[in-house]
Amino acid sequence: MFSRGYNTIGRISSFEQDNQSFIFNCGERRIKIHFLTDKMFRLSMHHHNLSEEHSCAIVQKEWGNIEPHLEDVEDLFLLKTRALRLAINKDPFRLVVRDLNGRAILEDTEPAGVHWRGNRVISAKKMPSDEHYYGFGEKTGGLDKRGCHYVMRTRDSIFYQGKTDPLYTAIPFFVGVRRGQGYGIFLDNNWETFFDMGKKSNNIFFFGVTGGELNYYFFYGPDIKEVINQYTELTGKIPLPPVWSLGYHQSRWSYKSDEEVMRITDELKRYEIPCDAISLDIDYMDGFRVFTWDKRRFPDPRGLVETCRKMGFRLCAIIDPGVKVDENYDIFREGIENDYFIKRQDGTLFYGYVWPGKTVFPDFTREDVQKWWGNHVKTFQKDSGVSGIWNDMNEPSYNIKYPLRQVNVNGLIFHDNGLNTPFEKNRNVFGFLMARATYEGLLEGEPDKRHFILTRSGYAGIQKYAAVWTGDNTSSWEHLALSIPMLLNLGVSGVPFVGADIGGFAPWITSPRKLFMKLNRELIARWIQLGSFYPFARNHTIKFSKPQEPWQFDHKVLEISKKYLKLRYRWMPYLYNLFVECAHNGCPPMRALILEFPNDERCHRVDHQFMWGEFILISPVIKKRASVQDIYLPKGKWFDFHTGELYVGETTINKPITLDDIPIFIKAGAIIPCQPEMQFFKEKELNPLIIEVYPASGISSAIVFQEDDGETLDYRQGHYCTTRFELIFDKELQFTIYPREGSFEPKPRDLLLQFKHVSRPKRIGMNSLEMKENLLLESGSWKYQEASMLLEIKMKDDGVRKTLLIEF
Ligand code: GLC
Repeated sequence: MFSRGYNTIGRISSFEQDNQSFIFNCGERRIKIHFLTDKMFRLSMHHHNLSEEHSCAIVQKEWGNIEPHLEDVEDLFLLKTRALRLAINKDPFRLVVRDLNGRAILEDTEPAGVHWRGNRVISAKKMPSDEHYYGFGEKTGGLDKRGCHYVMRTRDSIFYQGKTDPLYTAIPFFVGVRRGQGYGIFLDNNWETFFDMGKKSNNIFFFGVTGGELNYYFFYGPDIKEVINQYTELTGKIPLPPVWSLGYHQSRWSYKSDEEVMRITDELKRYEIPCDAISLDIDYMDGFRVFTWDKRRFPDPRGLVETCRKMGFRLCAIIDPGVKVDENYDIFREGIENDYFIKRQDGTLFYGYVWPGKTVFPDFTREDVQKWWGNHVKTFQKDSGVSGIWNDMNEPSYNIKYPLRQVNVNGLIFHDNGLNTPFEKNRNVFGFLMARATYEGLLEGEPDKRHFILTRSGYAGIQKYAAVWTGDNTSSWEHLALSIPMLLNLGVSGVPFVGADIGGFAPWITSPRKLFMKLNRELIARWIQLGSFYPFARNHTIKFSKPQEPWQFDHKVLEISKKYLKLRYRWMPYLYNLFVECAHNGCPPMRALILEFPNDERCHRVDHQFMWGEFILISPVIKKRASVQDIYLPKGKWFDFHTGELYVGETTINKPITLDDIPIFIKAGAIIPCQPEMQFFKEKELNPLIIEVYPASGISSAIVFQEDDGETLDYRQGHYCTTRFELIFDKELQFTIYPREGSFEPKPRDLLLQFKHVSRPKRIGMNSLEMKENLLLESGSWKYQEASMLLEIKMKDDGVRKTLLIEF
């Protein structure tokens, strides 16, 4: 495949060891294998004397010492760690990675796997017939990427379709899974990169770079979640988001005056739609000049922010990278005076044409430019009081105004750590660096607070700074369905805080025949049902489109929206705890089934169902006028959330559906922390703390539930508390509430345990004392409802250990 014009790596002529690094000299090229841990190494290929390239994706940290051991065995070098065996053929260089049982995990093609032609450098691997591939960041297509070819180049992809590639973000990382065992590859290179996962060949996959070094990290699981954990160790874990940002966001392009914003907040209240945030799109600015306000339409931004806050809403304001060319505009003048904007090789400024017209762009690869930008974000935030910053058009998009006019990007020079490199080397990290500048600016302004940033573009590691949404989708069934595998693969790629525009952004062109297809009541209802389970849940639409807020359709759509958003808010403590888990191990809250059921071959291609953590399975309706739905239930027992029916998994069931609901299943043994009905974050005290339990005989489970203030970084100083809840159900049901641990103290409150779908208990004892049945469910008593088979037990939540014994 790489015969024509390609060079192939040759014989190892000499070899050096430097601690945990092994360098193999192969003629003009040197291959370096550096072990970070026993399970993780980096392979890079250099020309002689080429210095190591800088990466902004990885978190600099000490990985500790390991002792990889090298043996020289005739034709091979054998490199051993406590988890891996690397066999390196000497002539030509060829790498095979095996586990301790000798099973090949990753194998270069024969006779050799490294090829190059000009600036393109490729690594080709054998592709086992039963291997599947996930991740690759934000990509169209199905969940399993076997058979696909993808390019990593950040690009404004307005109105993208089901096969458009590339899109806005570039995350050159994937996980390979074979018979339940996983490994990961992260090709850390900012140039355009590409991955061919069996599109060109049935038994070879390859990936490569178009400039710079071949530089990839290998992560061995074998657990898929462990691969994601290691990848996010390297590229950074998500900081805990402010809890309000997990609420519902209402947006459109644009709510373009303070009156309009107030009308929306009033309507959200009037219709009782839980909501925490309103977005301000580009029209709040003065002529699209970033960091300014249109004084006619928003005369008092701080006043507006405060009024909204009193009602429970926060504002998120958009900030684009393009700076309007205008001598009377201070940001432009400052940038010019300090030479902050991107230039061409000949020293002239690079101009693009974005919302404000003629535009210049900061060179975010310079630290002083990042600082300057961050300072402006900080001041903007301080002056106005907005709670979130939304970074858009940062691929960057440089020619939206006059799409027919070519804007030439040849010959642009970026600082790039003093290397002065072209656009192609830097575009993939432009949005990433803008988000970083924004994050650092906000953090400097308010060092104790958690900040919310949303970005359209990003590179590997973007999760450290921002949530990501999937840009300009369309109001179509195709896009509703597409959003699911897109978000699931973003989750596998280390980016957990993700969402698509609920309802779709653009109301037209799904195909030329349906030129003016609009969002209708059925589609918005289905999308709100699905979007209520997006980690980032925002309804957003384009300018001039039909209003898309939940109350703009009919009574039924309104009721469905309320029901589902209320469910999101009820399960908010559970969702938040999924983020807590993610901050520890990188595992995304919205999960592909394969993450929970790696050994179930059928889960590999379940594109349109997902798990919310380990307990909740969501099967959104993705088809128009569907009256039945096939649902695949993996191993375990599953309760139909709506009816309570119990199913035994590893089977596909067929359910009748109506517009009112999408199928939701709860895994038997689930323990789900909930809050009472609330319209926004901290509207009320969390009292009672509700714990839903779904017992089934023979199934035991446990969770550790974390609480903290939800908005500051104090948790990093240990200011949080945890409670372990444990369910053991054999003949009797035993439920243990372990002593609360940690310095954060919730206000005095009750604890309400709700055991779902159980029969009437004969006796309930708490710490060996019998509890009384009481229809008013006073603290210290229980109540049973025959019709719904619901057993509720209420007690003081004083942080002390309690063991409940329930006899049925
Ligand atoms: C881009 C964004 C979209 C936004 C619009 C105007 O198209 O993707 O969300 O509404 O610009 O700012």
